[in-house]
Amino acid sequence: MRVITLCVSALQVLLLSQAAPVTLPNTLLPDGYPNPSPAQLKAIEQQALGTLSNRTLPATLHNQESLNNFRIINFNEYFEAVFFAQFLHNVTNNVTGFEVPHTIDRNILIAELSAAQAQEELHTINAIHALQHYGANPIQPCKVYKFPVNNFQQGVLFVMTWTSLVMSTLQDIIQDFAENGDAPFTATIASTLGQEGAQAGYYRLLLGRTPNSLPFLTRSIRSFAFSILNQFIDFSTCPNVNEITIPLFKHITVLDTPGPVDNPAIRFAVNTADVVTGKTYYVVYINQQNLPVVVPAVHKSDQGGTTVFTGAWPYTEHLMNGLTITIISDNAGPYADAQAAADEAIFAPGLIIVN
Ligand SMILES: *[C@@H]1O[C@H](CO)[C@@H](O)[C@H](O)[C@H]1NC(C)=O
Ligand SMILES: *[C@@H]1O[C@H](CO)[C@@H](O)[C@H](O)[C@H]1NC(C)=O
Ligand SMILES: *[C@@H]1O[C@H](CO)[C@@H](O)[C@H](O)[C@H]1NC(C)=O
Repeated sequence: MRVITLCVSALQVLLLSQAAPVTLPNTLLPDGYPNPSPAQLKAIEQQALGTLSNRTLPATLHNQESLNNFRIINFNEYFEAVFFAQFLHNVTNNVTGFEVPHTIDRNILIAELSAAQAQEELHTINAIHALQHYGANPIQPCKVYKFPVNNFQQGVLFVMTWTSLVMSTLQDIIQDFAENGDAPFTATIASTLGQEGAQAGYYRLLLGRTPNSLPFLTRSIRSFAFSILNQFIDFSTCPNVNEITIPLFKHITVLDTPGPVDNPAIRFAVNTADVVTGKTYYVVYINQQNLPVVVPAVHKSDQGGTTVFTGAWPYTEHLMNGLTITIISDNAGPYADAQAAADEAIFAPGLIIVN
């Protein structure tokens, strides 16, 4: 696999397993999250319009690899809960740029964001409880979360995109649990996937888009989500992110915004230092549940440490609506599925959403 793995040597694993148990702070958000008191938890549940499951978890985990599923969910849900708390604050207080357009029902919006914040908090706590139940450390929150969001429109676009990626990634987590022999968790994850779908439909509607983007949502891979989080969070501020043993890819930035038309040359930027001179590269698109689409990557320029490749955007042939995950590889494929493409990815993922 052509990836930068977070280096976890045998020695580190040994040290980790002997590390003191992680104590979570209760100060990431003012409501006690992610370590609320029982009274605070009750308040979060009220805001979330429902409760944590009180079902008993299976006594043992079949495969230790399943812990990474809970860890990546735990880590990602911090990002989501903090986003919603900030966005809700910005919208509620009419922060400059976050005034709600008159065409949008402000009360419904605030009710939705308030519920979403608390629902993401419960998703986090659910993952934390699972990790603790199986004797693993919960993942600690990072010090700083930075969202590329300066106004209302950007906020909705960002959360719509993020929610789409999460729905795509939860598919991978469900399959992973099933393959690991840990099927009892698949239904709970499917229930959160549907929950994110209800949210995504609303954000899409706010943007004037058809709520139901596709017949079959795009498939993603855990390491794609982890790599994107690495673009928005400074991992050096995350105390035990190294316990998530999922590979990271090299960064790719989509410079253009493709639309529902064919385009001969969409531009992608990567770090020149990561490009091997003379090597042939390919742009690979993952959309819906289809076989990954491969087109040649054309080397356009090297400037200031950034290399730009272009690739054709074959919208019409594949009806590439909704989320498309873009990777650059030096392998022409063909790829049997998204995982096969991820196995050969060098730069990933670039996110494109059409319609
Ligand atoms: C589980 O939750 C339900 C609904 O809140 C409650 O009636 C029941 O007593 C709970 N069971 C346990 C074992 O906590
Ligand atoms: C909230 O508003 C601040 C500007 O006051 C901005 O920097 C931040 O990115 C916004 N966050 C969200 C999630 O809307
Ligand atoms: C924000 O603006 C809305 C509508 O313009 C108004 O109803 C509300 O009171 C304002 N809230 C604050 C905190 O300024």
